[in-house]
Amino acid sequence: MNNTVYESEEFRRMLDETSVMPEPPVMDGSLRQAWFINRCRRIVARKEEELKRALTFCVVTFGCQMNERDSEKLRGILRLSGFSQSDTEEADFVLYNTCTVRENANVRLYGRLGSLSSARKKNPAMKIALCGCMMQEKDEIERIRQKYRYINLVFGTHNLYRFSELLCACLMSDGQIIDVMDKNDSIVENLPSDRTYSFKSGVNIMFGCNNFCTYCIVPYVRGREKSREMKDILDETRQLARDGVVEVMFLGQNVNSYGKGLSGDVSFSKLLEEAEKIDGIRRIRFMTSHPKDLSDDLIEVMKNSGKICPHLHLPVQSGSSRLLKLMNRHYTKESYLDLVSRLREAIPDLSLSTDIIVGFPGETEEDFQETLDIVRRVEYDSAFTFLYSKRTGTPAASMEGQVSDETAHERFDRLLAEVQSIGRRRSSRFEGTVQSVLAEEVNRQDRSLLTGRTPHNLVVHFPGDKSMIGSIVDVRLDKAHGFYYTGTERE
Ligand code: 5AD
Ligand code: SF4
Repeated sequence: MNNTVYESEEFRRMLDETSVMPEPPVMDGSLRQAWFINRCRRIVARKEEELKRALTFCVVTFGCQMNERDSEKLRGILRLSGFSQSDTEEADFVLYNTCTVRENANVRLYGRLGSLSSARKKNPAMKIALCGCMMQEKDEIERIRQKYRYINLVFGTHNLYRFSELLCACLMSDGQIIDVMDKNDSIVENLPSDRTYSFKSGVNIMFGCNNFCTYCIVPYVRGREKSREMKDILDETRQLARDGVVEVMFLGQNVNSYGKGLSGDVSFSKLLEEAEKIDGIRRIRFMTSHPKDLSDDLIEVMKNSGKICPHLHLPVQSGSSRLLKLMNRHYTKESYLDLVSRLREAIPDLSLSTDIIVGFPGETEEDFQETLDIVRRVEYDSAFTFLYSKRTGTPAASMEGQVSDETAHERFDRLLAEVQSIGRRRSSRFEGTVQSVLAEEVNRQDRSLLTGRTPHNLVVHFPGDKSMIGSIVDVRLDKAHGFYYTGTERE
């Protein structure tokens, strides 16, 4: 891990320009946020002077890669404001970036808040902030307002770009600040970020989701789909390449519908073709793909690309066409299987991973058998399996035939056994081959080993030293151990 703040040249200029402005720019956007970063700097410096020690922060991220990326931006702002990162939650500013996709994400957040109380006692000046998807839920905000008075700052997904302004207000106030917006149609570019890895990075290409799968809360908490301008995405990717990044992951809830609402001839496959031309970028990944929008163009671009990794995350959710309709997924078991065969024909050794929900309302044993069947037919390299979780406000929450916990758990166990045995078999198919591996970190258990990933997204442990982190090396995959390999670098 490297943790350095990366800001665009434009943002650096904005920091300089606003450092001498007595008042913040009125127009909402990155210039205004730069002014508040300068202001936070002065406040933090003053507090450090008073306390005779550095002020620290800790950002804890729940949920998906989008949240991970958001947290990099939040950390970037905290660092530019003068805070130092703490490894533990015993910090002066603790920020939880929350998830709400399943009920247990909410339960975990409150559990975590409870266990923060001893750190709070040691440092009564500690500020606690909450942001992210769960904060877009009105009921949760009410609960925090009433029962968690000690939380200092709450903001949502639509105004994350205003974090420096909110941070500034929070540092100057002892009360509770709650600032959540219902929607926001603009995209604020140019914010700094504190990247977890120096050699790979996520790049947001779009925000929100328009699909309204009937079980899913995401469209309600992340808002309508909006794509970033292709130029902004490519400029960011070029800047990343200049900073030494070799692998990018394009992020969106449904990357295949990238470009809707933008002017000009833009699409996800065009974006990939342009990204491919960027010198220095050696690997391109993306997630998540919705099967209904995966175009033939994309298959063609993947097939002809030297940089797009041969791995696709293609959530199926269920193998029952009847349930897929109730889920509002807009494809059937047959059309999904057809898509998989077209993909495999074009890219023969493509790795496929997926998401599956068990226990959706009305799921019968026959429906579940269809799910087992599709899993066997597709032979996923890996699958994330979820127990259906009822999310208030979604259409599925009021559907008839809610499945009992017992039945859902029993099916879940059967499904897990199946996906694991297939995954284990599938992922051993590269044993004995040489693969290019991006060395990502020193192995946590054995410091003489490095851990990296193949283009197919398989984890490999191999002897090597820290200096190799961030480079792509040829590694012979000596032995498959279920979901990872051990290997040796080929000289
Ligand atoms: N219950 C269970 N799993 C869900 N997902 C989304 N909403 C729910 C829910 N209410 C899963 C889907 C999605 C993944 C990110 O989370 O499988 O692809
Ligand atoms: Fe949720 Fe469906 Fe959108 Fe994915 S595509 S975020 S599952 S609504």
